[in-house]
Amino acid sequence: MSMQAVIFDLDGVLTDTAEGHYLSWKRLCDEAGIPFDRAMNEQLRGRRRADSLRLILGDRQVDEATFEAMLVRKNAYYHEYLATLTPEALLPGIPALLDALDAAGIPYAVGSASRNARRVLAQLGILERFAFVGDGNTVARAKPAPDLFLAIADALAVLPTGCVVVEDAHAGVEAALRGGFGVVGVGPVERVGAAHVVVPDTAALSLDVLQEASRRCQFA
Ligand code: BG6
Ligand code: MG
Repeated sequence: MSMQAVIFDLDGVLTDTAEGHYLSWKRLCDEAGIPFDRAMNEQLRGRRRADSLRLILGDRQVDEATFEAMLVRKNAYYHEYLATLTPEALLPGIPALLDALDAAGIPYAVGSASRNARRVLAQLGILERFAFVGDGNTVARAKPAPDLFLAIADALAVLPTGCVVVEDAHAGVEAALRGGFGVVGVGPVERVGAAHVVVPDTAALSLDVLQEASRRCQFA
C-alpha cells in the first residue's frame, strides 16, 4: 500500500511555538514566584496545558479556582504571542513539503495537543490546506494514547498503516507507534529515536522521507 495520508503534529513540526509557550509560562511563574526555566519548558513539549501546569507546580498545592485562573492567564499571554505569528514562522522545508503533497494528491491533517491549533494554523496562513484538524478538544485521552491519531485516520477514511505521522515529541512518537502508524521523528535521537525514520530538523523532511517511514511501518 502506498502512503495514503500524512498527519502533522503542529508545535515543533509546522512551526516552533515552543518559545511562545516558554515566554507565557515564564511570565506566569515569575508573577507567582514559581521557578521555571528552559529545561522545564522542554519537558512540556507535546503536553496539554493542564498537564503542563501540573508538572510545573510539582508538589505545590493550589486550589481548583487558582489552577483554572492560572491556565486562563497563561493562555492570554500565549495569545499575545500568537498575534505576532505570521507565515514566516513556518519551519524550513514545510512550505515545499505541503506543495509536494498537494502535487502528489496526498491529503494531510494536523494532530496537535493544542487547543489553539486552528488559531495558529490561521496565523500561519495554512489552515484551509488541511483535510482535517485534530486538536486538544478532539479526544479525551492525550498523547501518548493513540486516540487522537486514530480519530484523524478515521475522519480521513484511511488505515493507520497507510498513514504517516510527523512528530517532534517523545509522547507523540509513542502515540503514533501505538496506533500502528508510520512515524517520522523530528529532532534528537534521544527524544524521537523510536520513530521509523528520524530527521534532525524539518529542513530534512521530504516526500521520500515520509514514504520511507510508510514502507518501514508496513514491512516491520
Ligand atoms: C502542544 C505543545 O502542542 O500543545 C505544548 O507542544 C502545549 O507545549 C500544548 O502545552 C497545549 O497547547 P495549548 O495551546 O492548548 O495551550
Ligand atoms: Mg510537537
